[in-house]
Amino acid sequence: TGLTTFDGGFVNTASTKSAITYIDGDAGILRYRGYPIEQLAKGSSFLEVSYLLINGELPTPSELEGFTNKIQRHTLLHEDLKRFFDGFPRNAHPMPVLSSAVNALSAYYQDSLDPKDPEQVELSTIRLLAKLPTIAAYAYKKSVGQPFLYPDNSQGLVENFLRMTFGLPAEPYVVNPDIVKALDMLFILHADHEQNCSTSTVRLVGSSQANLFTSISGGINALWGPLHGGANQAVLEMLDEIKESGGDTKDFMNRVKNKEAGVKLMGFGHRVYKNYDPRAAIVKETADQILQILGVNDDLLDIAKGLEEVALSDDYFISRKLYPNVDFYTGLIYRAMGFPTRMFTVLFALGRLPGWIAHWSEMNADPTGKIGRPRQIYTGYTERDYPNMDQR
Ligand code: CMC
Repeated sequence: TGLTTFDGGFVNTASTKSAITYIDGDAGILRYRGYPIEQLAKGSSFLEVSYLLINGELPTPSELEGFTNKIQRHTLLHEDLKRFFDGFPRNAHPMPVLSSAVNALSAYYQDSLDPKDPEQVELSTIRLLAKLPTIAAYAYKKSVGQPFLYPDNSQGLVENFLRMTFGLPAEPYVVNPDIVKALDMLFILHADHEQNCSTSTVRLVGSSQANLFTSISGGINALWGPLHGGANQAVLEMLDEIKESGGDTKDFMNRVKNKEAGVKLMGFGHRVYKNYDPRAAIVKETADQILQILGVNDDLLDIAKGLEEVALSDDYFISRKLYPNVDFYTGLIYRAMGFPTRMFTVLFALGRLPGWIAHWSEMNADPTGKIGRPRQIYTGYTERDYPNMDQR
């Protein structure tokens, strides 16, 4: 076949060149466009980081103002699109609702589908950044049977999202600034992570010159799996299970180490980080702070810390270089903020959106870009004759 390499899972294959995000997995380093994640988490805002990832440079004050204004003007969903949510069962997981509604944007906003037209790309970018929080809040409202609230364009993106999620028409919702700040920072930490599964999916879908909305919808689906973004939900379910069965972390760890079917220490391990995930370090610190500020005393935080302590001093984890990843502590923060477990991966998607857009745009701007089309090593039958039905 002329093939010279096989690399299942793309463990050692670069699928693209990229100037967006740098990771040194052995040193635990993550930078967006050269800026260390720690500095961005401390000093920047999610919208500023979105601008940076997508445009390549930090915005000037007036650029940021222009970008923010545009996003705030596009937060409404088409009224017909709102009825789309009615078609889903009440107990639907919000992730397929989110990806379906994002895909439906290609049907409602047909004037911004051409990947080769910079103005249309800009418009679809703004629409996605503005509308995803509205869609996410409506997916939640649908699940609890509450009315949808319109976005309020005088509010910031995170503030607006929290109000549309937790607010009710008859009760003014008072947004807690500590929660806004913490959620904004968590979105920054999730904003990009080079060629992870969902980003690679966005690139592969987009490589056929599919429109931005459809490509992002593909990424949301890839994110849902428990080995990727779905891990934040899986971590909380794991902690809950340990608590329900008496809180014995040692017993659970033995099941993990014995490789009992389906039992992994969720929120641990990473394809690239063979050292502490720098995002996890920030999240862990934030979990302590935000739970304290909110006056939440969560047994699950103690169980999580207990698991980490056992893992970091255990040969199984040390020899395999398994450390907590970004998903290990995030769920505890989301839970303290009032989000149900099923919304956790939706929050990951809200954070990851600018990264997906940046990669899709970088790919489309490359004149040498080709459609993504991996090869295979065929392992099936060689040629054989078709037998008639009476010969089988
Ligand atoms: N618990 C127990 N053992 C593990 C774990 C874990 N969480 N992760 C990896 N291992 C073991 C694995 O069994 C293998 O052992 P052995 O060499 O004896 O067969 C070894 O460590 C190497 O693991 P791998 O599965 O070959 O590594 P990978 O790079 O293919 O997988 C991973 C990376 C993230 C999918 C995996 O570590 C995992 O399943 N972790 C749990 C799920 C999780 O937390 N995912 C979120 C990842 S970070 C954010 C994101 O991407 O969304």
